[in-house]
Amino acid sequence: GTYDFGLVGLGVMGRNFILNVADNGFTAFGNDLDPEKVSALIKEGGDINRVDATVDVSAFAKALSSPRKIMLLVPAGKIVDAVIEGLLPHLDKGDIIIDGGNSFFTDTDRRASYLEEKGIHFFGAGVSGGAKGARKGPSIMPGGSKEGYKAVQPIFEAVSAKYKGEPCVAYLGPKSAGNYVKMVHNGIEYGLMQLTSEIYDVLKKAGNLSNDELHNTYKMWNEGRLQSFLVEITSEIFAQKDDLKDGSLVDAILDKAKQKGTGKWTSQNAMDLGIPVPSIDIAVSMREISALKEERIKADALYDRPTVETIDKDKLVKLSEEALYFSFIITYAQGLHQLADASKEYGYDLDLAVIAKVWRAGCIIRAGLLADIAETFDADATLPNLLLSPRFVQQVQSTVASARELVAFGAKNGIPLPGLSNSLTYFDAYTSSRLPLNLIQAQRDYFGSHTYERLDRDGVFHTEWEKESRN
Ligand code: 6PG
Repeated sequence: GTYDFGLVGLGVMGRNFILNVADNGFTAFGNDLDPEKVSALIKEGGDINRVDATVDVSAFAKALSSPRKIMLLVPAGKIVDAVIEGLLPHLDKGDIIIDGGNSFFTDTDRRASYLEEKGIHFFGAGVSGGAKGARKGPSIMPGGSKEGYKAVQPIFEAVSAKYKGEPCVAYLGPKSAGNYVKMVHNGIEYGLMQLTSEIYDVLKKAGNLSNDELHNTYKMWNEGRLQSFLVEITSEIFAQKDDLKDGSLVDAILDKAKQKGTGKWTSQNAMDLGIPVPSIDIAVSMREISALKEERIKADALYDRPTVETIDKDKLVKLSEEALYFSFIITYAQGLHQLADASKEYGYDLDLAVIAKVWRAGCIIRAGLLADIAETFDADATLPNLLLSPRFVQQVQSTVASARELVAFGAKNGIPLPGLSNSLTYFDAYTSSRLPLNLIQAQRDYFGSHTYERLDRDGVFHTEWEKESRN
């Protein structure tokens, strides 16, 4: 065959990605079981003239030039395995399969070793940026077979988002590094989304900001240091009117957040690694609490809530901007800390500066802050946590007081600000040279002879703790 690139899975993401490939001058062939999706692509891509598609896997494989470069954009899980099995009889040694979905990283490792035995290069590449990103320039996070990546590098660099001309794609590391980094990207995404939503809550309840004012506030923030895709779309959301009745669409939307698992995986894996990411954990928990709508309604009727005091709008907007900036930094710090540790644990050999650079454009967590983060890790690749960087001390120091004030206000007035308070607590604990966990060690030794270490001498100690030992 002659086609440069193959893509299986012509849903919105797949269709947009393949059209993006064609826009950049490559020929691309699509494949999907669903004939409607195939004809939709041909209809939309026909005028580009570099795109074709079929439902027939064999014809699809025949259309591709050698070595075949086939990207899968299908839902994570068993479907990926099924698509691979369907392709295998039509492939040759040296062909390349790229999983562009949100696959769990251990699945990617399993598939890579399975396909390596068959001479197929397989690698996972996280793709972020939603439907629009896929069409106009996503952030791409590939890892795994370096040889495989080299073959598609020109295509990926052409289709990816650009940050000041630099492509937002880079080889991130061996094995499932690409999927792992995309998973943590999504964990951070959950954290930032939770934070923007709770700040909305406090602005509305304590400041009585209208949707127009919320629109303007987030818009203004997006022009400053909070500049980010999520703050930008938040401002646009407040401006969207409802088609069905008067008012803003946002007020008509049911307050139950769905999830497909990547945030939860980030939290679960952070627990496995022993790396604290409480701003991400609570974002997952909040989606779970949100899902309990019926119970929440019953509970709301059972308990009194404090009447919310009002805060002067200008003052509240300033506090909120500072608190949001503070907690954004803390959330990135946690996610990057997890990546630093996973890199050692799984041998990914990650370069956090490169990752931050790939995130500067195209992806959902893109933000002005990432340029600072990239420079920080460029200067010190072994930095374990952003909070230890002199560059961030000042930014955190100058905003933490507002986070404290807002968390205290939320607690007193019954407004849940769990992302913000977890970020603050994480900060206070991480920056405490002495924590009360000496007591936990004493308790463990008391009831279970689990031993403890001492501040004043080396060794491992156990005490026969006595009841009322002072008497
Ligand atoms: C992206 C997004 C994308 C998807 C999320 C949504 O980077 O483009 O993260 O992958 O929109 O998976 O996740 P939830 O459905 O779990 O919110």
